[in-house]
Order: sequence, then structure tokens, then C-alpha cells
Amino acid sequence: MKKLFVIVLLICEVYGWTAFWRGRKYGGNIVDPEKIANRNFISLRDITSDNWLTQKLDHFDFLNTKTWKQRYYVSAQYYKPNGPIFLMIGGEGEAISAWMKKGAWITYAQRFGSLCFMVEHRFYGKSHPTNDISTTSLSFLSSEQALADLAYFVTAMNSQYNLTADDKWIAFGGSYAGSLAAWLRKKFSHLIYGAVASSSPLLAKVEYPDYLKIVQDELANYDGCDCVNEVQIAINKIDSIMKVQNGPQSMSKHFKFCGTFSGTFSNLDISTIYESIANIFAGVVQNNFGVTVHDVCGIMCNMSIIPATLRLVEANSIVMKAYGQNCFQYNYNQMIDYLKVSSWSSDSSEGSRQWLYQTCSEFGFYQTSSNSSSIFGDRISIQYFMQLCIDVFGSNFNFNSLTNAVNRTNVMYGGLYPETTNVIYVQGSMDPWHALGLTQTNSIQPQPTIYIDGTSHCADVYPPSKKDPPELTAARVKIVKFLSKLLN
Ligand SMILES: *[C@@H]1O[C@H](CO)[C@@H](O)[C@H](O)[C@H]1NC(C)=O
Ligand SMILES: *[C@@H]1O[C@H](CO)[C@@H](O)[C@H](O)[C@H]1NC(C)=O
Ligand SMILES: *[C@@H]1O[C@H](CO)[C@@H](O)[C@H](O)[C@H]1NC(C)=O
Ligand SMILES: *[C@@H]1O[C@H](CO)[C@@H](O)[C@H](O)[C@H]1NC(C)=O
Repeated sequence: MKKLFVIVLLICEVYGWTAFWRGRKYGGNIVDPEKIANRNFISLRDITSDNWLTQKLDHFDFLNTKTWKQRYYVSAQYYKPNGPIFLMIGGEGEAISAWMKKGAWITYAQRFGSLCFMVEHRFYGKSHPTNDISTTSLSFLSSEQALADLAYFVTAMNSQYNLTADDKWIAFGGSYAGSLAAWLRKKFSHLIYGAVASSSPLLAKVEYPDYLKIVQDELANYDGCDCVNEVQIAINKIDSIMKVQNGPQSMSKHFKFCGTFSGTFSNLDISTIYESIANIFAGVVQNNFGVTVHDVCGIMCNMSIIPATLRLVEANSIVMKAYGQNCFQYNYNQMIDYLKVSSWSSDSSEGSRQWLYQTCSEFGFYQTSSNSSSIFGDRISIQYFMQLCIDVFGSNFNFNSLTNAVNRTNVMYGGLYPETTNVIYVQGSMDPWHALGLTQTNSIQPQPTIYIDGTSHCADVYPPSKKDPPELTAARVKIVKFLSKLLN
């Protein structure tokens, strides 16, 4: 492929006067389709190397002329003349170059002969629009700015690669980037022809208690024992352990608390602990690789380990090990200190601070558990999350501002009624995010959807594997069918 383009270029340089003679093109008027394309992809030797596009800092203020450089990757490895253009949208983290070699979209690219681009989202990875990530700088972080970046990106690449209106762009994305893929098609349908939106939370919501409800339901599906009951027993006991003498001290050792333990818990620490415990199970359900529900429920039901809290300790330790996490967050102030650092060299600039900003200013999505009938207790309240927004970003980021912001997000994008065309929505039944997305075609506004039984967050986005359940394989076949229909 690359060699062919070298040859084409050489010919361009040596064909001399015969380039066009007596109404005939050099090589004939019906030329090799690869020559028609005549696109200079020679520079694309390393498909994982960084490329940069200059973007405006603020797409909504023409007086602001500041610019920055956005990172992207490009690959013509599978490109065939007249093939479509695939755009993998980066989400709330670094755009990892391995996606240029692997992933379901690359298998689709092989199938359709696509030119592939992947764009990193502003404020994540190496795409730094500002010198720091202070609250003031983060005012330029929003889904709307990100969509405008993508619109400019498509326009720039159309010109750089001599693409025409016949070259159809298809957007891909998983999770938040899945929502961006759908919204990009919606808002910029003159630039984007279609989209595959995987595990996309379309509906902004201040409180999202369904998240932990779905986690609980997944634990209930475990058939080795009453896993939910065992988790509940253990979590209830934590409540009393926190109150007895030396209880907190022993918890700090067993759970491997981060930092030095002061010996006491504030109310906000208690909420932090409950959230960290809920995260043990939420992480396992949402990711479902490495450690599975089967593994953690196996531990929660191992009656040779008593009391139940020790099983919880064991579950926590295998999950921490699997995720490479070295300590358990219990201390609210420590967490705030971590999230408050506004330098790009801080650990939280990996994305946790930026994504928190987007939830405090656009989406909410707070995974509350404030009903005592939940196995995760009633300590993970919306007030706790609002305090977090205020303590990290300032008093402007409060319940009222978020309520308005969430309303605004849904007004701008349409929530669960996006009224898109050429977009397919893919969700997994095990994914705790699925309740904010489209899981079935509804009669009010029909949209093509795939609801995969038994898979978790973004399962369809990953490269196909022999271990995939048949439902997942079938979903990818449906996605290919959808794309074939669009691209024919
Ligand atoms: C696009 O077209 C211009 C002018 O015809 C040419 O110089 C350039 O090499 C082309 N770019 C690509 C990527 O083919
Ligand atoms: C239960 O836990 C004990 C003690 O850690 C361990 O030896 C045993 O293998 C576990 N049983 C199962 C079924 O995992
Ligand atoms: C708590 O959950 C129970 C059971 O799901 C439900 O019946 C009840 O209405 C909930 N209470 C509140 C305040 O949401
Ligand atoms: C959003 O705000 C508009 C205008 O203030 C209001 O009419 C609407 O009811 C709000 N929607 C929700 C879901 O709160």
C-alpha cells in the first residue's frame, strides 16, 4: 500500500509532457483507482506517531484569538480508494495510540478500506489548550468546545488530504466519546455522515442512583450464593466497626488506607469510605475483565472466611491488585488535595480532575446511594458530591448551578430523544451506564439500537476475541451491516 503511493509520486515527477496529450491522461483516462486517489500518505509511516492540529481556544468567542495544538493519529494502513473516513473520538482520557492498531473500528476499517483518524479530546492526554488546569482554564473544557474542535478537525483534514463530499466520515466513540460521536453527527451533519455510539450516556442527570442499582442487580445475578445479601451484611458491619474503639485503626490496616491515618473519621470521610467500597463492586461490574463478578461474589460467599467484613477486605485487595491500585481512599480532605492541584504535572491531570470538572459543570452523573434499602448504604448522597464540586472548583459549582447546567446539556443535545439519523446506539445489559442511554428503539423516536445481553461498558469497542460471548460477536456483525448500508 505505502509502496504503491511511492510509485505514484515518482510517476508524477517523471511523466513530463505526456501527462495529458490528445485528450488522454498519462496511463489512460480510466486510471488505476489508487492513482485517482493520488493522496500523499507517504508521511504516515508510523501510524502511532503524534500529529498536531492548531485549534482555537474558544470556538464561541471570535475575539479570542488564542490557539493551541490538538493531538491526533492517522493511518492509511487499510485505506482503499473511495473508502470512507473513520474518526475515533477521544474521550475523557489520553488518546492511546494502540487504538490505531487494535479495536473493533480497525477491523471495520479493514473491511471497508477506511482512512483512520483518532483525535484526542481537549484537556486530556497531551492536548493542552492552556498552561494549567486551574478552574479558570477549565472554563474552556466542555463537550461543545470538543465538538467544535472535531468539526474544525474534519474540515482541516478534508483540505489536507484532498477529500471531497464523496468521502464519507463515520464517527466512533465509546462512553462519553460515544455521546460525542452521536452529537457530532447531529450538530455537524454536513461534515459527518454517520456514527456508531457505544455505551453513550446521552441523558445528563444530577443524581444517577440507577448506576449502583444496576451494579446491585448484577451481583444478584450471581447464582453461586446470595451475593447481594453477603455484601449487605459486610457493609452493615462496617458501620458498627467504624464506631467501636480500634475499629477504624483496624480498618485502616485491612483496607490499606492511603496516607497516614489520623484515627478518626469525619462525616465526609465516612461517605468517601462508602463510595470506595461501592467502587470495588462497581469497577468489577463496569469493566468485567481481570476480576469478574464471579470472582468477587466467590469471595463474598466463601463461608470459611469469617466474619463477612474480612471477605470484603479480601475482595477489595484482589480488585486493588488487578487494577494496580496501591491504596484505598478514605480521607475526604486528602482526596480534595489531590484533585485541587491545577498543574499539568499533577497526578490528577491524568483526567480525574478534568472529568470531575465536566460532571460538575455539564453532566452530573453522580452515582448516589442515599436509600437505606441499597446494599451500598445511604451515605453516598448528592450533598456529598456537591460538596466535592465546591471544594475542588469553588462555590460557584453548587447544586443550583449544576441543576441548570444539566438542564442546559439536555436542551442542547436532546437527552434520550436526540433525533439523530445514521447513528446506531450500542449498549450492554451489564453496563451500569446503560440506563442513561438508548437501549431500545422507542415508538416516540425510533433509532437503531443494539442492546447486548451480558456485556459491560464499551465491550463492542474492543478488538474481537475468541472469548467473546456470541451476543457480542452478533452485535459487531450488526454494526458491520449498519455500516454497509450507510456506505453503499
Ligand atoms: C492535495 O492536492 C495538492 C494540490 O493538488 C497536492 O499538492 C497535495 O500533495 C495533495 N495532498 C494529498 C495528501 O494528496
Ligand atoms: C475460601 O477461602 C479459603 C481461605 O482463604 C481458601 O483456602 C479457599 O480456597 C476458599 N474457597 C473457595 C471456594 O474459594
Ligand atoms: C428506597 O428503595 C425502596 C425499594 O427499592 C423504595 O420502595 C423506596 O421508595 C425508596 N425510597 C426512596 C426515598 O427513594
Ligand atoms: C429546563 O429549563 C427550562 C427553562 O428554564 C424549563 O422550562 C424546563 O422545565 C427545565 N427542564 C428540566 C428538565 O428541568
